[in-house]
Amino acid sequence: MSSLDFLFNPGQIAVIGASRSPQKIGHAVLDNIIKNGFEGNIYPINPREEEIAGLQAYCSITDVGGPIDLAVISVPAKHVTAVAEECGQAGVRGLIVITAGFKEVGKEGFKQEQELISICKRYGMRMLGPNCVGLMDTHTPVNASFAEGFPNRGNISFISQSGAMLVSILDWSFEMGMGFSRFISAGNKADLTEIDLIESCADDPQTSVILCYVEDITDGEKFVEVCSEASKKKPIIILKSGTSSAGAQAASSHTGALAGSNRAYDAAFRQSGVLRAESMNDLFDMARAFATQPLPGDARVAIVTNAGGPAIVATDAVEKCGLKMARFTRETIGKLRENLPGEANLYNPVDILGDARDDRYRFALETVLKDENVDSAMVLLCPAAVTEPEKTARTIVELNKKHDQKPVMAVYMGGKTLATGRNYLTANSIPTFTFPEPSINSLRGMIRYNEHLEETAPFEPVDLDNVNREAVRKTLDEVLADRRVVLLGHEASDVMSAYGIQVSKTYLATSEEEAVEIGEKLGFPVALKISSPRIAHKTDVGGVAIGLHSEKEVARAYRKIMENVHYYLPDAPVYGIEVQDMVDEGVEVIVGMSRDVQFGPLVVFGLGGIYVNLLEDVSFRLASALTTREEVKKMITETKANTLLKGYRGKKPADLEALSDTILRTARLVNDFREITEMDINPVRVHNEGATALDVKITIEAVNDKE
Ligand code: COA
Repeated sequence: MSSLDFLFNPGQIAVIGASRSPQKIGHAVLDNIIKNGFEGNIYPINPREEEIAGLQAYCSITDVGGPIDLAVISVPAKHVTAVAEECGQAGVRGLIVITAGFKEVGKEGFKQEQELISICKRYGMRMLGPNCVGLMDTHTPVNASFAEGFPNRGNISFISQSGAMLVSILDWSFEMGMGFSRFISAGNKADLTEIDLIESCADDPQTSVILCYVEDITDGEKFVEVCSEASKKKPIIILKSGTSSAGAQAASSHTGALAGSNRAYDAAFRQSGVLRAESMNDLFDMARAFATQPLPGDARVAIVTNAGGPAIVATDAVEKCGLKMARFTRETIGKLRENLPGEANLYNPVDILGDARDDRYRFALETVLKDENVDSAMVLLCPAAVTEPEKTARTIVELNKKHDQKPVMAVYMGGKTLATGRNYLTANSIPTFTFPEPSINSLRGMIRYNEHLEETAPFEPVDLDNVNREAVRKTLDEVLADRRVVLLGHEASDVMSAYGIQVSKTYLATSEEEAVEIGEKLGFPVALKISSPRIAHKTDVGGVAIGLHSEKEVARAYRKIMENVHYYLPDAPVYGIEVQDMVDEGVEVIVGMSRDVQFGPLVVFGLGGIYVNLLEDVSFRLASALTTREEVKKMITETKANTLLKGYRGKKPADLEALSDTILRTARLVNDFREITEMDINPVRVHNEGATALDVKITIEAVNDKE
């Protein structure tokens, strides 16, 4: 029994606020429970009635006397806490609070919601809502909601943060002929969140696909932890609305400006094996494919069509989505040649021509499905006078059953004349679309999920040596003691060194003589850079001089930089000038981090330099996931920088091992120190041997509970 069985499969339900009046929500809830076949005991609770809908009514839930798994509360907000308290006393296990007027209405409501949560905690009750529509389970069956209608029985669970979205989808689903196992309105998620609900649906034997509409994720870390497990059991597809780049706009680092919450969601979803839907259509298109078809073995698609144009569109979609057009075996080509008209195209897409009747579809589809080089098939049909859409629909269903290891999608391009065929296909579990792109998109979702399942071997986290936490702690404490949040170059350089990241040697000089001395020690040539917490863009104020080959050049550059800075920014506090060794050539990449409020540190990798934000050739990962070489490799491979690193146009390949090491160490550093809020190593210069952090910016904030 799953831990939430008292919600989805209760033995008894009480409806508090049950009413005889048909306009009341409490009436609708009771009516839904009765008429949709719930077989357990039902207790209407209403202080003014003795009987409602033929059932004995109780003044209070405490009068019922027997065990009660679930209570649905539909009384005005001001009574809810008192009623919940009574539920606790009566030993109720789960609450569904339909009532609105809690945290969504402001401070007072928030306080009431907190009180409600503490009552639930005190009595060990779990709560769905408040401010929700309720839930439905078609297999129990139970309809503990005030929605209009009850979904067809099926294997899709839909969890929605928005009640309106839930009821609209329910209504639409009838027209679409879709079946559901569960419909759940999460409401304010005061206790049970989307994470608990996903976990429960993953354990529900009647559910094979989990869909979720969310406006926010309650707890990023827990989400990743739970979904990583749940997604191995069933596909989870989530539509997240309200992603914005607001956070990104406020950021001061390159990484921060690139990140934004949307990227963090992308990274978190990918890491947990969750498929992200781009739209409502996308969400349900994918759901239909997952709910009805087997997973394809690989990405090779065969298309059978009676029209050239739509097949080209479909082929484009295949390529755009990163899938492959299957290359048929010789045997397949031979068979197609023997049996199709001379004008037909035998190669993928197989064009069986505009005058194709059902027999040609049957032959071509069966032939390609038998081909070992084909992993999935799409049947494209456009209406012509001789087309047999209904008969062909029956053929598609029959062949899909016969070759049940390979998914088949149908694209019936047209309107009225194809409606019956389309309905037949839908009713018989063939995902059917009006245009090719969404069908390919759904297929891509299935392939991604398959890849996720195949990534079974949990790779070994890399054991990083040479990590000195105390040294970093000391540097950060000193910076905070100096009432600064931005590390100076030499401090950032110390942090890098302490975590074993190779960094250009940087020392602070507070006089011309000292600069010369450091230059001599480092060995010429060297670079000089102004050191001031107020100057982020040093070149803009003439604060940088590179390639200095002698004592004289260093001394001259020192004076010039000071002059420039005093001229452009006379009020900027100047700590001195940093002297840095000149670093060998290499491919310039960025490794950085920004901290997402929801998911924590997010690491970026990509092409470095000043055009980072323009080019956006970047990939992201949650730092918590960046512990294996395999994950880092994937991260690098996702960018075009990868091509440069492998040795573009005859150049020697760059040292990917050293780069991976830098990324792994950066991830470890930002995981270890919560006070690091933003960080850019731009560039990291990746040489043929080794990689060096050249310019490092670290921003921190004071945190209360230092580890
Ligand atoms: N115990 C049991 N029954 C009680 C009660 C209590 N403590 N207090 C009141 N009742 C009864 C009432 O007498 C009434 O029954 P009646 O019709 O026989 O008189 C019934 O419960 C409902 O109370 P009422 O005061 O009529 O409220 P209502 O039905 O107009 O509104 C809600 C109650 C919960 C529907 C309303 O407050 C609300 O929140 N509406 C919005 C719901 C919503 O949108 N949710 C989110 C969806 S996304």
